[in-house]
Amino acid sequence: MLSQKKKNTANKANQETLSPIYASRELNQPIPKYELPQGQTPSATVAQLITDELNLDGNPALNLASFVTTWMEPEAKELMALTVSKNFVDVDEYPQSAEIHDRCVNIVANLFHAPDHENAVGCATVGSSEAIHLAGLALKWRWKEKMSQQGKPTDRPNIVMGHNVQVCWEKFARYFDVEPRYVELSETRYIIGVEEAISLVDENTIAVVGILGSTYTGEYEPISELNQALDLLQEKTGLDIPIHVDAASGGFVAPFIQPHLKWDFLLDRVVSINTSGHKYGLVYPGIGWVVWRDRKHLPEDLVFHVNYLGGDHPTFNLNFSRSTGQIISQYYNFLRLGRTGYSEIMRSLSSTAKFLSKEISEMGHFEVVSKIDALPVVCFKANSELPYTVFDLSEYLKGRGWIVPAYTLAPNAEHISVLRIVVREGLSEDMASMLLEDIKRACDHLESISQSNRPKAKRHSHKTIGVC
Ligand SMILES: Cc1ncc(COP(=O)(O)O)c(C=O)c1O
Repeated sequence: MLSQKKKNTANKANQETLSPIYASRELNQPIPKYELPQGQTPSATVAQLITDELNLDGNPALNLASFVTTWMEPEAKELMALTVSKNFVDVDEYPQSAEIHDRCVNIVANLFHAPDHENAVGCATVGSSEAIHLAGLALKWRWKEKMSQQGKPTDRPNIVMGHNVQVCWEKFARYFDVEPRYVELSETRYIIGVEEAISLVDENTIAVVGILGSTYTGEYEPISELNQALDLLQEKTGLDIPIHVDAASGGFVAPFIQPHLKWDFLLDRVVSINTSGHKYGLVYPGIGWVVWRDRKHLPEDLVFHVNYLGGDHPTFNLNFSRSTGQIISQYYNFLRLGRTGYSEIMRSLSSTAKFLSKEISEMGHFEVVSKIDALPVVCFKANSELPYTVFDLSEYLKGRGWIVPAYTLAPNAEHISVLRIVVREGLSEDMASMLLEDIKRACDHLESISQSNRPKAKRHSHKTIGVC
């Protein structure tokens, strides 16, 4: 005979299993949001609760604000799910994952023309931000070593970069005590200027940064010209300044569709490069890569060693534990796509970007400021006589589900406001045509209502809206 208490518990469990999900107790009352609940809740109910809440998020496929991958093949997703429980740092327990990581580093180094890519020096990171912090530290250490050998002070390092750098560079400078020296933008130049950069360099400069694909406009910075100008500077002054390339987005674009562009280790001064696997590397977040020209450019002081199958595994990262899932799916993409696959995808994205740019220019309301030989990004500003702003347009498009951010450019060009569409895998030409229709509809609507009847959309700077 069951006791009454056991009977009640059994009845309750039965009721929870049998009730239609929206009739369950937990879905008929508010849930504790800011403290750990006292008791347990059935798994299906919790999953439903959270799924419902997440419906309030934007749709990743319509999120044209981000460079970050929102679509992967089902096989890649399966592999990711299979490996998400492995901690990458446990190289002794997961030696094959470590081996795959090393293969990826070699593949990336080869893609970027590292002199000895079979013994590549680099590592996976959570994204380009971590990669940039590591590369920046290596540059600072190398500069310190050089200055100490010359008996000079080592307390005032600086780094030279365009004011259009992504916010992670500001973080690097602040967290690691390096003076940021910014090249201002201008009315017509939204990236670094070569002469302006050289004028900021001195013996305390740890590096000049060149961006392969500005976050603001997708434009490539003139890295080869920076290299040449620094050569001239060395001839004149003896200063020997390295370049770091921030190829967060361009690292997986330029090698495939602009193969003749010289921006990587083929240039002598380029000592390190970062790229985001989760952008045009086509992997879900978060994965980035940093590679160095050779061992000499990664000071041994910064490397930690863990024991690995009785051997030695060097590690250099800011975080200790991380899942192997993204590393494995990056390798999946490398094997699955090869050079041909990546090239086809990048060509197709670039063709969609060109199509959008042409159609948007022809609307007569906008000026496209992004360039053709750059990232597949469409960045445009509104003509000054329009009765609405790009911020109004961005707000209106949200009503249809499109996330197309509007923001002001970096200092000295901050009076210029733009909209940016990142063309990523998943934005087919068919979807792009629908977006164009919605932009046209938005323009007609915004023109038809008087300014006083329209809620004023807020202006944002790039750094305050968190697009990346
Ligand atoms: C040029 C550039 N550098 C660095 C980053 C930071 O990359 P992540 O999001 O991979 O950390 C971004 C992000 O958009 C970027 O565009």
